[in-house]
Amino acid sequence: MPSTSPKSAQLQASPIRKLAPHARAAEARGIHVHYLNIGQPDMPTPPEMIAALHGLPLNRLAYAPSEGLPEAREAWSAFFTTWDVDFSPDQILVTSGASEAITFTLAVVAGGGGEVLVFEPCYTNYLSFAAQADVRMVPVTLEVEDAYHFGSADRLRARITPRTKAILLCNPSNPTGTVYTLEELEAVAEVAVERDLFVICDEVYREFVFDGGPVRSFTQFRDLADRIIVVDSVSKRFNACGVRIGCMATANRDVLDVALRFCQARLSVATAEQLMVVPMLTGGRGYSERLCVEYQTRRDTVYAGLERINGVHPHRSEGSFYTMTRLPIDSCETFAVWMLKDFERDGETVCLAPGEGFYVTEGLGVDEVRIAFMYDAVTLRRAMAVMDAAVAAYPARRELAAGVSV
Ligand SMILES: Cc1ncc(COP(=O)(O)O)c(C=O)c1O
Repeated sequence: MPSTSPKSAQLQASPIRKLAPHARAAEARGIHVHYLNIGQPDMPTPPEMIAALHGLPLNRLAYAPSEGLPEAREAWSAFFTTWDVDFSPDQILVTSGASEAITFTLAVVAGGGGEVLVFEPCYTNYLSFAAQADVRMVPVTLEVEDAYHFGSADRLRARITPRTKAILLCNPSNPTGTVYTLEELEAVAEVAVERDLFVICDEVYREFVFDGGPVRSFTQFRDLADRIIVVDSVSKRFNACGVRIGCMATANRDVLDVALRFCQARLSVATAEQLMVVPMLTGGRGYSERLCVEYQTRRDTVYAGLERINGVHPHRSEGSFYTMTRLPIDSCETFAVWMLKDFERDGETVCLAPGEGFYVTEGLGVDEVRIAFMYDAVTLRRAMAVMDAAVAAYPARRELAAGVSV
């Protein structure tokens, strides 16, 4: 029998989705599962987008240009302007979500064995994108005790080698909810210039900043323009993950030229979907601002729920719609499986994303979980109460009474 290639077999299974069979089995037993593991927005896609889809003046779904339809590139450019980010339409390539934009960008700047610095815990798919692009992700490890902030430029410098080509920055962060401070962004900028690196800015959660904090794009460092590549998406800000529209944007002509060849090799992005996002990109700022208010309420609910769990010392997520926390439990993966297989409270249980999968470094994050705020506050309150009961009932709970530090 021919076999799959050893390299492709190394691609990790999604840590977010791998508990799904246990969750389905719990549901088959009649248990109600609260899915706190996945960042799939629960709110409806804006009617403007659906109406735009129905109203498209199309009688032939031809290939779109590889760089994206002019209408879509103009709409992205207009969208960026509302957030004080300057990219002209010809500096934007429309992609199948931010996922494709990141994969192309990694390949363009570091493909063929280059290294890219990334803060861990990180968005898990970065590792799979990097594997596809033949890029090595080099982690800068952040600590829950620092609310996953990194503080100083030296943390980055310490991980740079002659093969380092870029720093990948997800701000606000999935999975931690960290919004990097101005000083931290300045540190990234300083190191990028000093070591001649690109900065890949994953800003798919850009405007989801809580507590009135400033929405900062890395593009504010205008003198770094040629080093900056922004990746973006409609998925989260417009509750439209299934539309699969994103983009990469840069002022760097060489990057655009090479990236366009990747775009040409996959021919084009779906024509109708590029057009259906135009109304929200050009007029949707108020919509995503309202979403941010809702996510802040949910953040408050999750934070309050975590605070009530004995042995948990949560940090207050600053943005995106996630938080990570440490639980007083040795293996959160075993705990998450146990909650689905062996635990229920009044017919309910919770599905969590174990922290390990968000780390590049093996062995880290075993006592952490990521929580996504994908239910209204009432449901989240119930889910947090279920989690509290589960932590208390878990047989292998770390022995707090014995003074084990958590
Ligand atoms: C940080 C981050 N980047 C990129 C993506 C991919 O987004 P898209 O749906 O646009 O491919 C996600 C999706 O969850 C994400 O959280």
